[in-house]
Amino acid sequence: MMMEPASKRRLKATSKSDQKFFLDQKKGELSSAAPPARPLSPFIPRHHRQLINLLKVTGGLAGSLLLRRPLVWGNPLIVHIEPTSLCNLNCPLCPSGTGLLTRHRSKLNFSKFRIILDKLPDSVRMLLLWNQGEPFLVKELPQMIEYARKKDIYVSTSTNGHFLYDPASVRDLVNADLNELIISLDGADQQTYEKYRSGGNLTRVFEGIRNVSLVKKQMKQVHPVIHLQFILMRQNQHQMNQIIHIGKELGVNRISFKSLQLGEFEGAEHFLPDNPQYTRYLEKDKNGNYVTRKRRLFSNDCLRLWYSMVINCDGGVSPCCFDKDGAYSFGNLFEDSFSSIWYGLKFRKFRHNLLKSRYYYDMCRDCSEGLKKLFVRSIRYD
Ligand SMILES: C[S@@+](CC[C@H](N)C(=O)[O-])C[C@H]1O[C@@H](n2cnc3c(N)ncnc32)[C@H](O)[C@@H]1O
Ligand code: SF4
Repeated sequence: MMMEPASKRRLKATSKSDQKFFLDQKKGELSSAAPPARPLSPFIPRHHRQLINLLKVTGGLAGSLLLRRPLVWGNPLIVHIEPTSLCNLNCPLCPSGTGLLTRHRSKLNFSKFRIILDKLPDSVRMLLLWNQGEPFLVKELPQMIEYARKKDIYVSTSTNGHFLYDPASVRDLVNADLNELIISLDGADQQTYEKYRSGGNLTRVFEGIRNVSLVKKQMKQVHPVIHLQFILMRQNQHQMNQIIHIGKELGVNRISFKSLQLGEFEGAEHFLPDNPQYTRYLEKDKNGNYVTRKRRLFSNDCLRLWYSMVINCDGGVSPCCFDKDGAYSFGNLFEDSFSSIWYGLKFRKFRHNLLKSRYYYDMCRDCSEGLKKLFVRSIRYD
């Protein structure tokens, strides 16, 4: 069943010629009142079901850590849905870009997305609309965003920024009320950029970012927050200040400098920055594996399995985004109910094993949960 419109204050510009007036979606009439002055926070529940769920998740998690057995009292707070596993680029440390992803490559369409979202509990607070692949290859992405926003879910998506050049489709995105747009951009010039974003065109990404900030201004909207994400690597580690300057000029709201994940790729070390402050890894252990730097608190626990889950574009449910190939699939939302997956035996066993040891599964060795240096530096312009 459809719920109340996302934000009661959510207002849309109606056309270029009446930019001072906005359509109040609730009242269905024109208004000259200002749209929300500040972007919404994903961390503040929007209604009592989200609040109660947050309390249940926290309680279950605390009890599980204390008793060392999985108590799951709440539903996920955050859900990843993968619009597609296909991509237009060939980033060398990404299984989608290298073609090493073994699960079936496909795209979600809106009706399939709706089946998934309608099966999820209405207490979900945040939707991360990406996993592997490039979300903007899916034409119906704005419809998906709008549908989730109408359920009062905070929506964020991550893109390589190659499909933002058309002002009309950017307007659709803003009208859909996307909360956050993360744009991956790891170089201040084409030569540096394409060392990782192979097949990419930096000018086109710059043009796209400018476009989004211009359309937002024209429509007098604070959403989507434009979040530039720069992965620190050996070839670009000297460009931090340059990118801070470029980000400001392009009109982005935030920049995050993210540390590189190596994965299982041959020759990956070649991309590691030589500045130790910029990496998530310590020296290698005696087996030759890089060890990640963890925070002291809960360093041997994975909390993620109590508050989030990943749904791939084929409907398969994975514990997290590190299960790239869906090897630990707990079920499929096109066939199974949400409860039979989230509270089911397979998920429970996985949580149980991780309570025994954070490194029970090999996949978890390189995971970013609880990392000290996931983000090396973050800047906000607003
Ligand atoms: C697999 S991508 C999919 C979304 C989109 N295609 C993109 O690149 O933004 C998901 C996220 O992983 C990031 N990413 C890609 N390779 C990475 C690596 N080796 N280490 C850390 N993050 C990485 C991307 O920048 C993006 O934020
Ligand atoms: S753009 Fe994103 S999905 Fe595509 S290859 Fe690069 S990291 Fe992977």
